[in-house]
Amino acid sequence: MISKNIDEAVKILENNQLVAIPTETVYGLAGNAFSDKAITSIFNLKKRPLFNPLIVHIQSINKLSEVAQNIPKDAILLAEKFWPGPLTLVLPKKDYISNLVTAGKDTVAVRVPNHSLTLQLLGKLSFPLVAPSANPFTSISPTTPQHVNRYFKDQLPLILDGGACQHGIESTIVGFENECPVLYRLGALSVEEIETCIGKPLQFSKTKDKRPQAPGMLFKHYAPSTPTFLVNSLQDEVQFIASKDNLKIGLLRFKELSPNVNPEYQEILTATGDLNEAAKNLYAALHRLDHLGLDIILAEKLPSEGLGITLNDKLKRASNK
Ligand code: TXA
Ligand code: MG
Repeated sequence: MISKNIDEAVKILENNQLVAIPTETVYGLAGNAFSDKAITSIFNLKKRPLFNPLIVHIQSINKLSEVAQNIPKDAILLAEKFWPGPLTLVLPKKDYISNLVTAGKDTVAVRVPNHSLTLQLLGKLSFPLVAPSANPFTSISPTTPQHVNRYFKDQLPLILDGGACQHGIESTIVGFENECPVLYRLGALSVEEIETCIGKPLQFSKTKDKRPQAPGMLFKHYAPSTPTFLVNSLQDEVQFIASKDNLKIGLLRFKELSPNVNPEYQEILTATGDLNEAAKNLYAALHRLDHLGLDIILAEKLPSEGLGITLNDKLKRASNK
């Protein structure tokens, strides 16, 4: 059921069952972070491998010491500046945080989400919430209650209705190696903003794609079930379409319709070229294209600057090449 009833959500979560919650990034599939029963149901419902750890959501920075310890100075700076907001910090965990949450790692990922309904909800609970994005493993993240409903209709007692998500893409994840901040996942908060806050460059995870620090980055991600390809230029698009003229092709375009395809099979991310607006619309546009019965989706590469870098990373992960 989709509803705004926070007290009902409290009851369900206290009973160690799951509720979908709104955040400023994407909808989360939430359960009691101190209940192995709730945590196990999250992995089962999402069909997510157990070696991919979860993010713990707390109500404010004051609760950080309930889940993490030995917190580096830069982490405090970042948390004070960006929480509540789309930044996840990977920190040494408190011993009692379940291995199911952290996939056996000695670190825990934690953030304060910026959505009034979810902050009110956390304020009424005596435990934090673990919440991965509320989609089956490897499919597109949900940015509206209706997306969640499409995935988990009869399997969730409650989807808390907080409207469409403000950012529309996941939080940026930062960890610390020898006290140095390291980027584990590109997300809604830009690298520039993080670097300005700590006054030094962010390291990039050295292990690259083979064994990334955030195991979630291993997988094909955010993928529509329709085969999706990233095209680098208009010329690529024209060539691709010409070579597949018997197929029903849809386009995900940055700011204008293409003359090469029926407009009904196209989605534009932002008419004004605003990358924040493009981020907000990205997953919803992919959801819509994925339900048009297309043979192929072609996604236009976005300008490689600021949030555009993050969005291109998501598109690459959504695509088949
Ligand atoms: O915006 C978000 O972060 C959303 C909303 C719901 O808060 N949540 C989200 O969760 O994106 P999920 O489960 O889809 O992605 C969590 C990512 C995964 O890539 C996982 O590998 C990484 O966080 N992660 C979790 N714990 C970690 C840890 N201890 N060390 C490194 N990476 C970790
Ligand atoms: Mg996810």
